[in-house]
Amino acid sequence: MHAIKAIKNNNIFYNRKRVFLTGHTGFKGAWLTAILHELRTHSMGYALETDKESLFKKMDGDSMIQSVIGDVRNFEKLKKELCAFKPEIVIHLAAQAIVKDCFDNPQYAYETNVMGTVNLFEAVRSCDSVKSILIVTTDKVYENKGDGAVYVETDPLGGIDPYSSSKACMELISDTYKKSYLQSDGRMIGVSTVRASNVIGGGDHIQSRLIPSILNSFAEGKEVELRNPHQTRPWQSVLDALNGYLSIARLMYENPETYSSQWNIGPAKEGIQSVLDVVTKMQGYYKNNSGYTIGETFKVVESQTLGLDISKSLDRLDWAPVLSLDKILFDLVDFFKRQQAKEPERDICHGQVSDFFKF
Ligand SMILES: NC(=O)c1ccc[n+]([C@@H]2O[C@H](COP(=O)([O-])OP(=O)(O)OC[C@H]3O[C@@H](n4cnc5c(N)ncnc54)[C@H](O)[C@@H]3O)[C@@H](O)[C@H]2O)c1
Repeated sequence: MHAIKAIKNNNIFYNRKRVFLTGHTGFKGAWLTAILHELRTHSMGYALETDKESLFKKMDGDSMIQSVIGDVRNFEKLKKELCAFKPEIVIHLAAQAIVKDCFDNPQYAYETNVMGTVNLFEAVRSCDSVKSILIVTTDKVYENKGDGAVYVETDPLGGIDPYSSSKACMELISDTYKKSYLQSDGRMIGVSTVRASNVIGGGDHIQSRLIPSILNSFAEGKEVELRNPHQTRPWQSVLDALNGYLSIARLMYENPETYSSQWNIGPAKEGIQSVLDVVTKMQGYYKNNSGYTIGETFKVVESQTLGLDISKSLDRLDWAPVLSLDKILFDLVDFFKRQQAKEPERDICHGQVSDFFKF
């Protein structure tokens, strides 16, 4: 019942709210742009330019959000745009989000993820309209115990690769800004971090990610190359995760003292399955039977989260994941097949978003 409640509440709440979103041109950002458009929100996005193959470009995201191309490392520009827009809610997605890219260029990763977050908080500090700010980190912020642990929000932070540790730094920065500035001296702004596991959905075009690389192999009729077919992972729908983000931002807006916290957002238990099970299901939906081979192992040492405990979010938010893994995989294969049939991405996205948010 929770699940439907969050959808209903978000549907009502976001109508005409002013939302400032960083990273709107990325994968999650494009889906969130489509959702905010569906919920009739006044939104501004702030991010780097993206290429023409991205979902944001393909779905004509510029027509759904006031899009500003800017770097979060450019404090003056970020502050000017945010203050001029006067948002009520800020959602921070912008990041160097590819583990390998961060490993190859840690300085840029820290500048963007760490100082970009500081810059955003500084901009928010000088803007009276903001009531709620949500910082998106990752389930990789937890100290990796290497034993398949299922992490809860009170577990220690860590990070053995630059992506993970830069995201763990974002957690500390958020807590500091909350305690020192945004919830002190008479101010009471909602501040939370959200730690989500990997999300999947249609339209992801980054070939270094697993799902796009699998779909690409299907399209080319090649065997799927898998590094760790028997590894178990939490598979989460991008729509469920973003609905969770919107729920936290809404609840903080309404009651900042109660809901400012750290939140794990992930799938229900049935969403934790092996890579091979997922590929097999996708092959069934695509009608592909070319099998798989074992690919080269990833050289970057990265935190592996095999499980995320979402009990706190289920208990305290009005949110819960709605979509089954079968439905998630069916929808993303369907998205891909319709793209191949040259159906406009805007229509495919709109169909999946309005289907999810109808109540
Ligand atoms: N995709 C996932 O499965 C997943 C899982 C957990 C957490 N996250 C987090 O969610 C957020 C969004 O992830 P995504 O998958 O959409 O990533 P993405 O790489 O697709 O998009 C990243 C976005 O950040 C923007 N960006 C990067 N550097 C910037 C800079 N210097 N200045 C301004 N904008 C900049 C890009 O332009 C883009 O809009 C990230 O913070 C990521 O760490 C993602």
